[in-house]
Amino acid sequence: MINIKFDYEKAFDCVSKKEIFDFQVQITQHFKAIKEKTGKGNNFLGWADLPSKTGKGLLKKIDNSAQKLQTLSEVNVVVGIGGSYLGARAVIEALSPHFNLLKRKLGNPVIVFAGNNISEDYLAELLQLLDEKEYTLTVISKSGTTTEPAIAFRILKNHIEKKYGKYAAKERIVIITDKVKGALKQLADEEGYETFVVPDDVGGRYSVLSPVGLLPIAVAGYNIWQLLEGSLEMENFTAVSAKIDESPVAAYAAVRNALYRKGKTIEIMVNFEPRLFYFTEWWKQLFGESEGKENKGIFPVGANFTTDLHSVGQYIQEGSRSLFETVLSVENSNSELLIPYDALNLDKLNYIAGKPIHEVNHMAELGTSIAHVDGGVPNLKLSIPEISEYNLGQIIYFYEMACAVSGYILDVNPFNQPGVEAYKRNMFALLGKPGFENETELIRKKL
Ligand code: PA5
Repeated sequence: MINIKFDYEKAFDCVSKKEIFDFQVQITQHFKAIKEKTGKGNNFLGWADLPSKTGKGLLKKIDNSAQKLQTLSEVNVVVGIGGSYLGARAVIEALSPHFNLLKRKLGNPVIVFAGNNISEDYLAELLQLLDEKEYTLTVISKSGTTTEPAIAFRILKNHIEKKYGKYAAKERIVIITDKVKGALKQLADEEGYETFVVPDDVGGRYSVLSPVGLLPIAVAGYNIWQLLEGSLEMENFTAVSAKIDESPVAAYAAVRNALYRKGKTIEIMVNFEPRLFYFTEWWKQLFGESEGKENKGIFPVGANFTTDLHSVGQYIQEGSRSLFETVLSVENSNSELLIPYDALNLDKLNYIAGKPIHEVNHMAELGTSIAHVDGGVPNLKLSIPEISEYNLGQIIYFYEMACAVSGYILDVNPFNQPGVEAYKRNMFALLGKPGFENETELIRKKL
């Protein structure tokens, strides 16, 4: 069953039904091109049937590897950046307790992340933590050559080999990379590390349902079978219908593109649950890197409500009118906590005494959406019944499909990221990397 509901009634002040349904012909073609792997960038459409093509054998292998890492570690360090990082973090943080002390109580290793920045302080503090903890490493890089994770792994490899000895350290390192290419694959072969493959035809930001996301999620103690089952349900559904009036995927792709054509060039993904913070980060990367090219694309930003209603809420209500927002709404919370009655009532909260906090959060959500629509910010709402592996699987596939279709509507290749190279070229030139001599000379003139 499809658990995602999409409500776009609150976009009608800005776009008409006709403007939305005008995308139907295109959308039908794009769904077909994705399913038949004939669209732009079609050598990177492997994500589209990952749920149906992932065999039980691979899932069991991932679970076995995860169990081994769990028994060896209090902390598992996941090294990776971009698509080799955000999907796993999004799911793990969405399912985990909010507080580190509670996380450890559950008995599974705490997952920490490295290689997603180049901060000296971050790595130095991580080493301090690892001095005192039993730990393992999961190193993820499809290319095997990305600078940030390469630096982190070089440092962590030294540390883990000093701590456990070279031989024992091998048992504590798992590599997820290309089947044959890249420095990481070569190193894994030379050292004899356990490896998992990032499929050739799956790009980083679409790889959360491959070992890239599945292994760290399993190490954290979550059910990757249910995650895949949820995504398979959505894969099957998108194979049957591309109709805007039936499919939330088709409707979301159509509405956001209709809004874009009306000058709404910024989409804010809003959550009212702090545990969805990194899910929003994953979504930002998925859409930003996929759509933002050839001077086109909706700029994706995230907002965490009600926290951010006390910061950027002012701008959303009354600033430049180039925004629309999409709320990822969670219908039920996992716990129940009622607001207590207080005899003194100095805070004047007795009018909501006895209500679950979730109800108050929902009224904040509804009140905010009405205020924002009144202020000229169209409001779209995606709902899931609760945060679970199964529902996250559905929403992940939902967004991947909607993103690819949106990219095709914009007539860009949603699976490349040529713009990411610019900063790397400059950084290599400034650091004097061999082979970048011309760039070094040119950039020095700019300083
Ligand atoms: O989505 C993408 O392809 C990128 O964000 C990559 O995942 C990111 O650059 C990391 O690349 P790699 O896995 O090769 O280290």
